[in-house]
Amino acid sequence: MKKVFVKSYGCQMNVYDAERMTDMLATEGYAETKAMEEADLVILNTCHIREKAAEKVYSELGRVRELKKERAGQGQETKVVVAGCVAQAEGKEILRRAPAVDVVVGPQNYHNLPDLLKKAKASRVVDTEFPIEDKFDHLPKPSKAMIQNRGVSSFLTIQEGCDKFCTFCVVPYTRGAEVSRPVSKIIDEALRLADAGVRELTLIGQNVNAYHGEDESGSVWTLGRLLHRLAEIPGIARLRYTTSHPRDMDDELIAAHRDLPAVMPYLHLPVQSGSDRILDEMNRKHTGDEYRRLIERIRAAQPNLALSSDFIVGFPGETDAEFEDTMRLIADVGFASSFSFKYSPRPGTPAAEMGAQVSEAVKSERLARLQNLLETQRQAFNHGTVGQTLDVLLEKPGRHPGQMAGKSPYLQPVQIETDRHQIGDIVTVRITQAGSNSLFGEVVKPGSQAAA
Ligand code: 5AD
Ligand code: SF4
Repeated sequence: MKKVFVKSYGCQMNVYDAERMTDMLATEGYAETKAMEEADLVILNTCHIREKAAEKVYSELGRVRELKKERAGQGQETKVVVAGCVAQAEGKEILRRAPAVDVVVGPQNYHNLPDLLKKAKASRVVDTEFPIEDKFDHLPKPSKAMIQNRGVSSFLTIQEGCDKFCTFCVVPYTRGAEVSRPVSKIIDEALRLADAGVRELTLIGQNVNAYHGEDESGSVWTLGRLLHRLAEIPGIARLRYTTSHPRDMDDELIAAHRDLPAVMPYLHLPVQSGSDRILDEMNRKHTGDEYRRLIERIRAAQPNLALSSDFIVGFPGETDAEFEDTMRLIADVGFASSFSFKYSPRPGTPAAEMGAQVSEAVKSERLARLQNLLETQRQAFNHGTVGQTLDVLLEKPGRHPGQMAGKSPYLQPVQIETDRHQIGDIVTVRITQAGSNSLFGEVVKPGSQAAA
């Protein structure tokens, strides 16, 4: 059997796409390997969101080239594929810069991989067209064993692409226009995952709460409605979704946080900045106060909500005072977790052309202060759960024998001592201690068992 090694960079969408590529290559006779050295096929599933992400790919390709040479010396052939958003954005340029690469395939085209690999026997190929047909229709379904291998928490893509055009972001160019998958396809996939023992679904999309897929009668479903339907699936105990835009948090979705116990009290809702002028320049189409009021409404529906966000510091023209507006918003709202970045100009996006780019030194200083505040909030949130009783979904063996590791409703890793439970069980745990990254707890009640 041939072996394939896939390395994914960036967002959850790429993790999901990497799994779909391995599903498909399994039917072509490839087994997955975790060791690049033994792979006949190396796939780098790339991310283009910030400059550093793309540069990492090129340096990895340098290493892959060495490996390819070494293996060739031993009479073994290695094919190299660049997939994902760098592939989409750079296309042919990758073949020029990275001689080891055989195939460049965009995120909308990976269902063509078997075909492209055949063509690559004769010459190097690039496929970055936006096809009309749904790539998911062409992908084989993973076997039950493959699903089980991937664990009890699974991603499910329900939407792709973005029409928001935030001025800093490449996604509308690399992932294309916003498209929602049909309701029936999503439900079929969810049923199959549940049947293989999956307990938690994280619905993913670049703009997941803008979901507007059609059912078989042609009526359009919102994310709120879809969550209601998915919550009915036996075995599915937890639902999450990411990434959302503040503009698309409608009443039905907010109500789902109140009405559906399966919808976890956790929300990743990027705000990016707390300055109204910067938000406007970013084309986010909301103000800082509108975000604050939105969070109040969501917390009224779900008082236990753990909130997460993305932040960008040093957007072009950002003054000290405007940065302070972001610090104030963080202090006002309170975040349980977060991702924060220095602004990185992306070729082809409007913000890259804006004057008054902020210096690297100022960006670094602002990022350090911002991360300091966010880290204090994260620690405070974690310490606040000590003494509480939380449901934990057990996902894997723990760090030491006799331990298991799982996640709290707030997506915190939790380590527990147990020899009585299995992966997939949801156990009620009293949190006894908060470390810097994990919580520790003891089981107070077995809770709901995974299907045998
Ligand atoms: N520079 C810095 N951060 C960016 N992001 C997107 N584009 C850029 C950029 N050009 C961040 C945003 C987004 C997250 C996925 O990445 O915060 O929400
Ligand atoms: Fe990028 Fe904005 Fe779309 Fe998010 S909403 S993917 S940041 S353009």
